[in-house]
Amino acid sequence: MADGLPMEVPAQDLPPRVRIHEVGARDGLQNEKTVVPTEVKAEFVHRLAAAGLTTIEATSFVHPKWVPQLADAEQLFPQLADVRSAGVALPVLVPNERGLDRAVALGARRIAVFGSATETFARRNLNRTVDESLAMFEPVVARARDDKVHVRGYLSMCFGDPWEGPVPVHQVVRVAKALMDLGCDELSLGDTIGVATPGHVQALLAQLNEEGVPTSAIGVHFHDTYGQALANTLAALQHGVTTVDASAGGLGGCPYAKSATGNLATEDLVWMLHGLGIETGVDLGLLTATSVWMAERLGRPSPSRTVRALSHKE
Ligand code: HMG
Ligand code: MG
Repeated sequence: MADGLPMEVPAQDLPPRVRIHEVGARDGLQNEKTVVPTEVKAEFVHRLAAAGLTTIEATSFVHPKWVPQLADAEQLFPQLADVRSAGVALPVLVPNERGLDRAVALGARRIAVFGSATETFARRNLNRTVDESLAMFEPVVARARDDKVHVRGYLSMCFGDPWEGPVPVHQVVRVAKALMDLGCDELSLGDTIGVATPGHVQALLAQLNEEGVPTSAIGVHFHDTYGQALANTLAALQHGVTTVDASAGGLGGCPYAKSATGNLATEDLVWMLHGLGIETGVDLGLLTATSVWMAERLGRPSPSRTVRALSHKE
């Protein structure tokens, strides 16, 4: 190991390249107690892009009372125009047609709807049953597809739910297929409260494949509550997944899911991927410096092990 880089030792049967879907500016900041100023958010996204991230989830066009932390979406998104022109994808969360109207009015070309595998979380997060939320997404996805806007479908509580306990694979597969049938281009499997373990991840992926959802359309979204996120990611890579969600510095959580802590930290992910010889395009030094800078803005250290290890060396 030299200069804060892991020693590169490839392992067999892993993809040569992984696309990181960076969610720190959305999943991370939506969960902060304080509202981060718009200028700080804009600088965060610019720094993430400068560190080599090519998909950066920017914000949410949800009801501002439900997520006040992201109520400045209208002010923030235009400040990211240069990042977008440079070719960085800036997806935004959109729960309904009202959200879609707001996002497309600002020129958003990538949106994400977000469903739940469980009834309790659907109610708490979207004020709808699972099927009512799918009905809410239907015109959103149809209109987006007509406009050639890329649609990601998030599916939360794929492994366990804080109110309902373990979630059966067949229940997850039903909603996953319904999201794909609506016309989503991509499906992100959310372990919202971080309870998954690697065998469970592989069992869900295998069942989704069996039911016609190809691995190429699937991304994984692990929260790190029980320290399983990297192990789960490796299990997904072994299955052929090449899109991995992560959050710079390990920021994150969901205000409507008790016990949801931060996402898999992007730095921890990059350390593992680069050690495996897997390309990401990310400069780990610049990314770590960004998370240290953001931690100073938030007034507490980053929970990422890699950020801590690399910043203590300086
Ligand atoms: P509702 O209260 O049922 O809304 O909330 P409604 O449809 O009844 O509408 C009520 C009023 O809100 C109307 O205004 C609408 O126009 C307005 P009125 O006619 O009364 O004046 N409204 C809006 N205003 C602005 N933007 C909008 C919007 N929609 C309605 N988009 C709703 C339903 C979906 C809006 C609400 O539940 C909501 O905003 N939920 C968002 C929750 C959220 O963002 N959660 C965090 C993201 S999910 C997550 O973090 C998990 C993930 O990371 C994956 C994982 O980890 O598992 C993705
Ligand atoms: Mg999340």
